Amino acid sequence: MTKLLIDCDPGIDDALALALVAGSPSLELAGVTTVGGNVDLALTTANALALREFLHLGEVPVVPGSPGALLRNVIRADKVHGSSGLGNAVLPAATRPAGDGHAVDFIVETLRAAPGEITLVAIGPLTNIALAVRKEPRVVEWARDFVIMGGSYTRGNTNPAAEFNILADPEAAAIVFDAGWTVTMLGLDVTLTALVTTDVLDRLRPLGRLAEQLVVPAATAYGMVTADGGPAIHDACAIAYVLDPSLFTCVPAVVQVETAGRYTSGMTVTDFKLRDRRPNALVATSLDVKRFWDLVLDAYTRLAAGLG
Ligand code: BDR
Ligand code: CA
Repeated sequence: MTKLLIDCDPGIDDALALALVAGSPSLELAGVTTVGGNVDLALTTANALALREFLHLGEVPVVPGSPGALLRNVIRADKVHGSSGLGNAVLPAATRPAGDGHAVDFIVETLRAAPGEITLVAIGPLTNIALAVRKEPRVVEWARDFVIMGGSYTRGNTNPAAEFNILADPEAAAIVFDAGWTVTMLGLDVTLTALVTTDVLDRLRPLGRLAEQLVVPAATAYGMVTADGGPAIHDACAIAYVLDPSLFTCVPAVVQVETAGRYTSGMTVTDFKLRDRRPNALVATSLDVKRFWDLVLDAYTRLAAGLG
């Protein structure tokens, strides 16, 4: 059993990542924290709460955190994720409230209570994680592993240099990469191969309520699905990595986040030549796409059976 704490900004692919958790009995979710990112914090939190109930995640705490970046003006991705953050999916509003307190304290206290046991997964801007590291530097020792969806060593998506989660808060990302742990970075280099193609959609459609109410309306609003292309479900890659790291090839590297560049702020400058430096990251360079979708479909099928 792997214990997980997820910091997220749902977000279509965040929702699909949480669905992967819900359908994976080998994962135990210690909590979900939210951050302003794809849409405003109030919406990412409302979506996380709605998903907790829709996906039958039980009593797992959902705790809101930072509304915006440490220093920068807010950027959002509502053009991609829709004004609600979940594309065309309309889930019943949550009946249970968010947990008390702030995500940063929740992250610190949850890791403190179980040192070495919990894998921390961040699939939104890294604001909460940076604040947690600054508030209590020992979180880097207490986390069993730290996995992010973010960055890239080849290209950006929000601009030519930068991936959204890093660009949304480059100073936070710089703090997180410099914190002394090893960041497993699942960037665009691999997540842009995890595409919902027509074949994948045909396998998803029969999955009852899960497909009708969430996966299909969310994924199809997220991008045009074609035979060999379609929307990338970036964030689900982070959960897939936790479930089965052998799906990915990962290479040690030194990653530095550009915070000063006029055109390159938010770029994750990745050096695979270590030159006697300690690597601060394990960077994913390939994904076995067939096995990825088999894993996701297995989990979704299991989950769908429980949802009806
Ligand atoms: C990342 O940015 C967000 O829009 C997605 O949810 C994902 O976490 C992809 O660049
Ligand atoms: Ca996200």
